[in-house]
Amino acid sequence: MSTPDVSFDLVIRNGRVVSQGQILEADLGVHSGVIAAIGANLPAGSREIDAAGRWVLPGGIDSHCHVEQRSGMGMMCADDFYSATVSAAFGGTTTILPFAAQHRGMSVPEVLEDYHSLARDKAIIDYGFHLILANPDEKTLTDDLPAAIRSGIRSLKVYMTYDLMKLDDCQLLDVFALAREEGALVMVHAENNDVIKWLSRRLLERGHKAPKFHGFAHDPLAETEAAYRAISLGRLVDVPILLVHVAGGETVEVIRQAQLLGANVLAESCPQYLFLTAADLDRDGLEGAMFCCSPPPRDAQSQEAIWQGLLDGTLATYSSDHAPYTFDTAGKLPKGDQTTFKEMANGVPGIELRLPLLFSEGFLKGRMDIHQFCDLSAGNHARLYGLAPSKGALIVGADADIAIWNPEREVDVTASMLHDRTGYTPYEGKRLKGWPEIVISRGRVVIADGSLHVERGSGRFIARGLPDVPRRETPTAGPGSRPHGKVLKALVGLEKVAQ
Ligand code: URP
Ligand code: ZN
Ligand code: ZN
Repeated sequence: MSTPDVSFDLVIRNGRVVSQGQILEADLGVHSGVIAAIGANLPAGSREIDAAGRWVLPGGIDSHCHVEQRSGMGMMCADDFYSATVSAAFGGTTTILPFAAQHRGMSVPEVLEDYHSLARDKAIIDYGFHLILANPDEKTLTDDLPAAIRSGIRSLKVYMTYDLMKLDDCQLLDVFALAREEGALVMVHAENNDVIKWLSRRLLERGHKAPKFHGFAHDPLAETEAAYRAISLGRLVDVPILLVHVAGGETVEVIRQAQLLGANVLAESCPQYLFLTAADLDRDGLEGAMFCCSPPPRDAQSQEAIWQGLLDGTLATYSSDHAPYTFDTAGKLPKGDQTTFKEMANGVPGIELRLPLLFSEGFLKGRMDIHQFCDLSAGNHARLYGLAPSKGALIVGADADIAIWNPEREVDVTASMLHDRTGYTPYEGKRLKGWPEIVISRGRVVIADGSLHVERGSGRFIARGLPDVPRRETPTAGPGSRPHGKVLKALVGLEKVAQ
């Protein structure tokens, strides 16, 4: 603990401060938006918050959310950068990493300019962008993408599915090789497009149109196969990749085994795979569309495998994959009550409830300790996506991004209490314990007393640094060893690797 000689703009007293693997009964002092001291009996600040009985935790980082984005199928998200960041903040999140989405025919510079201008005047918390890459042509790979990465867009998302977004294996390898050279983390949506297309066609031919058939069309093997293929391509190029929104138990096992073989594969999962199942897609009428995302929620065994994966480190991050679509013709149901499972917008909202769900069901129910909660909600995101050390931890010198959680507060979830614009929540009626009552971003009290206290446009774009990915070594003998790997790299020009 340190008590430097500075005046404090804000002092948070008497909380249980979680910092660097420790729980400190301490005060936390903020100066100019940065944590200036953590210690006992700090001098008075211009503003004081009494956090007695509450947890003082790093503000959450949501490294997977869709904001003001048009999907591959052409549907527009319900949230803009104002409503999404307000909603995130009410749920204890202080940084988001949504996507700047390239569609075919768009150049990377125009995409980035577009998203910067959408976010700049609306975001109330800090944000960065991942770049969705749907068009890795020569100019993109040679000029635009390296420039984007160097401008702080240190992560890319690629799709193995959706006809209008998917890259073939050659294109994936091109992107992986470039990420290795320039220092970016590639996020992969791993589902086998042809499996889904083939199953969908046969289901529809037989008149199976209801939302629940989305779960059948996106068979778990479509995810597992694509995940294994992506991992293999990543190993070939020797670059870390991150599999997003992992849903199935078998996929978790494939990732775990690949990691044991030395593969530098990281993975993420989301609330919908812990708290929803395929049965939710089988609700009355079209109601199941509210639970439709890709990959879809699976079964209780898969939920358990996701919990295990998050707890044992197989899965490194827990994000919302907030993809908000209204339950009408502008979103989920483009053809009204005639909409088939193939036409429904894919995605569920979750930016506000992501952390309350994990705090209640993960931490307070004893599945994980408070340090695991902090790593899964913030710390791991910060390291892997190049936000550390400014974000993701309560340490002196870091941005004062803080959520103060009341572990006693009970909340019955209902859509009307949330701040996104989807109009429904998949978690309607769920009782949660624990709530982030005060949320602070760079020392600014953003949320307190159930109200928002900052102006639109007060969030900042963050140009991110190199991803900090712990490297697993390839075994020199036995399963997973690649003795010819070095020679191959030289032969195909893979010598360069970003520092
Ligand atoms: O269904 C989902 N996950 N929709 C959002 C888009 C994506 O693939 O992440
Ligand atoms: Zn995806
Ligand atoms: Zn997504």
